[in-house]
Amino acid sequence: MNIGILASGGDGAGMNYCLYNIYKKLYKRNNIFLFNRGYYGLIYNDVLNFDISYIKKHSQDGGIMIKTSRCPEFETLEGQEKAIENLILNKIDVLIVMGGNGSLKGAKELLKQNVNIIFIPCTIDNDVLNSEYCIGFDTACNNCANFIKQVNDTMKSFNRTCIYEAMGRKCPAIAITVGNMIDADYMYVSNNCSVESCIEALRKAKKTKDAPIVILRENLIDIKYLKEEIANKLNLDVKTCIVGYLQRGGRPTKLEKNYAKKFAEKCVNEIKNKKFNKSIIVKNGVFVSEKLN
Ligand code: ADP
Ligand code: F6P
Repeated sequence: MNIGILASGGDGAGMNYCLYNIYKKLYKRNNIFLFNRGYYGLIYNDVLNFDISYIKKHSQDGGIMIKTSRCPEFETLEGQEKAIENLILNKIDVLIVMGGNGSLKGAKELLKQNVNIIFIPCTIDNDVLNSEYCIGFDTACNNCANFIKQVNDTMKSFNRTCIYEAMGRKCPAIAITVGNMIDADYMYVSNNCSVESCIEALRKAKKTKDAPIVILRENLIDIKYLKEEIANKLNLDVKTCIVGYLQRGGRPTKLEKNYAKKFAEKCVNEIKNKKFNKSIIVKNGVFVSEKLN
């Protein structure tokens, strides 16, 4: 078979490990086309020439060795037509798409044009519909929690309150998980939260804690505005930290590698049995494949 693989959207630790575990099981009996930079690779027929030793060497690195992108061109009919021309040119029997919700929408456009697809959810946001887990999430949470614990040491020395902004686009999963890991005093994670309730939580926390912690999900409220409100109302020394890309990078955790390998095994299984047009998901803790439509 001719098998295409691409990564699209935000990267996450564990994607390389998943790729390696797919590649090593399939490369001897199939032709694998590693498309460079996600959907751009399809549009411009940009195929990477990596061998198994290179892929193995980088299998535990953070990021994604075949590169990813946000590709607005692929959202146009013209872009999709070019992609399909190249899939036909390369006689691709099935395309494995590793990505988040946006990438899934793109994959579904290809599916409508009769391209066989296997989708693997990869995003630190952990928000791909129907899957309890997406590759990158555990590492991102651990990166974020470790960062906060370290910064909190210096916050304690000064009796400072700190607001930490976690990634997640519109999904509160990282902020909530990290908030629990570090015992945050207030989790500002949805529109149900408010500046007033945050201030109330900190009013209580400051009685017992040297360095109260607020964890804020990105894209909700301006962090500087929140800082000023807290500082003024409670007369506290307040700092802010945007945790940022640190969450996405780094080597995958042990749990991440375990999950990435299981996604890969299920994907390989579906391909060997020619069961295409599936999304590999985690449901009730089990790795299953769900029909894409
Ligand atoms: P993620 O996959 O991590 O959610 P994005 O939302 O940025 O990341 O989506 C990644 C890419 O998927 C986009 O840059 C685009 O190429 C493709 N994509 C997103 N939405 C669509 C859509 N409605 N139709 C076709 N392609 C899409
Ligand atoms: O979707 C993953 C994610 O890291 C989000 O949490 C964040 O909002 C976004 O990607 C950042 O996108 P970019 O890498 O394009 O800056």
